[in-house]
Amino acid sequence: MAKTLVIGAGGQIGTELVVALRNKIGSENVIAADVKPTPSDLLSNGPYIQLDVLDREQVRQYIINNEIKEVYLLAALLSATAEKNPDFAWRLNMEGLFTILDLAKEGYLKKIFWPSSIAVFGPTTPKDNTPQYTVMEPSTVYGISKQAGERWCEYYHNKFGVDVRSIRYPGLISYTSLPGGGTTDYAVDIFYQAKKHKKYECFLAENTRLPMMFMEDAIRGTIELMDAPTETLTVRSSYNFSGCSFTPTEIANEIKQLMPEFEITYKPDFRQEIADSWPGSIDDTVARKDWGWKEKYGIKELAQFMLANVDIEKI
Ligand code: SER
Repeated sequence: MAKTLVIGAGGQIGTELVVALRNKIGSENVIAADVKPTPSDLLSNGPYIQLDVLDREQVRQYIINNEIKEVYLLAALLSATAEKNPDFAWRLNMEGLFTILDLAKEGYLKKIFWPSSIAVFGPTTPKDNTPQYTVMEPSTVYGISKQAGERWCEYYHNKFGVDVRSIRYPGLISYTSLPGGGTTDYAVDIFYQAKKHKKYECFLAENTRLPMMFMEDAIRGTIELMDAPTETLTVRSSYNFSGCSFTPTEIANEIKQLMPEFEITYKPDFRQEIADSWPGSIDDTVARKDWGWKEKYGIKELAQFMLANVDIEKI
């Protein structure tokens, strides 16, 4: 069995992706890598290595010596954190990608997954049902890095035949792992605060509509894309990928249905400007057509699952 490496395994997506991949192909075949010295409990049932994605030589040697064939490169700084540290965000989000793309170009890796984001779109992009191909003028450091990364992925595919696959994730909602540094993170935090304090002060304004998705859908979609026959894929930049779409008021209303005493207040901060530059909903017809993508969770199911399962000891 060829070995798979998940870089950034300690993050929100990485944690659940490692668990899902280990269930699918066996724990010993999925190596979790993160900059943290030790794995979280969820990752401790299989191999773990401390890896700094900015250390190109360390990453190269590890992948070559261990005959890794597939890499999921998830290490990145998200939108809000990237605005506070643009130089580092650019370096982190881009350099690791080149290290991995080059290894594939040289024939060491057979397949790569690299996540993009709705942040590749900007204020001049059509906001509703944003198409796969449209105006893209991202106005955040994170969005600029993701858009540049998409261009490089497509370039390496076209010029060197690299099998790189990518998804433009919306805001991801999960209860096993916490998000960090994103603009869509309110939609996770709201459940912890609801359960703990029965109230939430939201850092986005009430009518800010953003594309969102339950993590289980996102993980399943990612694995389905990676399993799809290469000839069915028409997009080698990154696929639009949609679950549901909601505003803070709408998700608060879902919580109120389950917890009538819940209250939300609004105090937008610098993240409002980031959110305002992004689409409200995404048209993912191409993903549906190419690899059969279909979400399972709508806002109602997502709210029920989250409220039932968030563990307030985690925050
Ligand atoms: N969830 C991400 C963020 O808010 C978007 O990709 O930064």
